[in-house]
Amino acid sequence: MDIRPLRDEDWPGVWALLRATFAAGDTYTFPPDSSEADIRKAWVETPLATYVAREGETLLGTYFIKPNQPGLGSHVCNCGYVVAPESRGRGVAAAMCEHSQQFARERGFRAMQFNFVVATNVRAVKLWERLGFAVVGRLPGAFHHRDLGYVDALVMYKSLAVSSPP
Ligand SMILES: CC(C)(COP(=O)(O)OP(=O)(O)OC[C@H]1O[C@@H](n2cnc3c(N)ncnc32)[C@H](O)[C@@H]1OP(=O)(O)O)[C@@H](O)C(=O)NCCC(=O)NCCS
Repeated sequence: MDIRPLRDEDWPGVWALLRATFAAGDTYTFPPDSSEADIRKAWVETPLATYVAREGETLLGTYFIKPNQPGLGSHVCNCGYVVAPESRGRGVAAAMCEHSQQFARERGFRAMQFNFVVATNVRAVKLWERLGFAVVGRLPGAFHHRDLGYVDALVMYKSLAVSSPP
């Protein structure tokens, strides 16, 4: 698996993956009928960086990273991850998350925050917990799930500070 910065030629495949993911209405707040321009802005143009995970010609997944807040909150970063359905369950998201944490540390971010992990997205919650993120908040009914109605969203947080030896 190769994780590298997104290039223009990756976008059609990334857009197809994101469109299908958001259309499902079960994991992200992007409107299911979002336009390509809006999603490109959110996933590629606004973030600090966007990466793809590939295996040869096959797109496995993608993630973005950006400061979670401007100015005095900009030392905490935020990411979004999507893995292609046929490539799930083999560690692609784990590899992208580790990659993003490395990227974040190299750029001086002190923590990573996920603002809106849908509580029914058990796969994601368990994975982020395994990678060291803690649930620090629960937003009751904050996500309007396409099939389940109003469900909770979780705020998850991990410090990236390297503890100094005693
Ligand atoms: C969530 C998502 C990113 C995970 O990607 P992935 O590449 O399948 O994740 P990984 O293979 O790295 O890890 C999946 C983990 O979930 C576990 N898992 C799989 N099915 C599960 C289930 N039904 N319940 C709980 N855990 C489950 C796997 O065992 C694995 O854990 P392990 O590594 O300890 O064995 C992917 O499913 C996805 O893109 N979903 C749609 C978008 C999304 O939800 N993004 C995240 C938003 S917070």
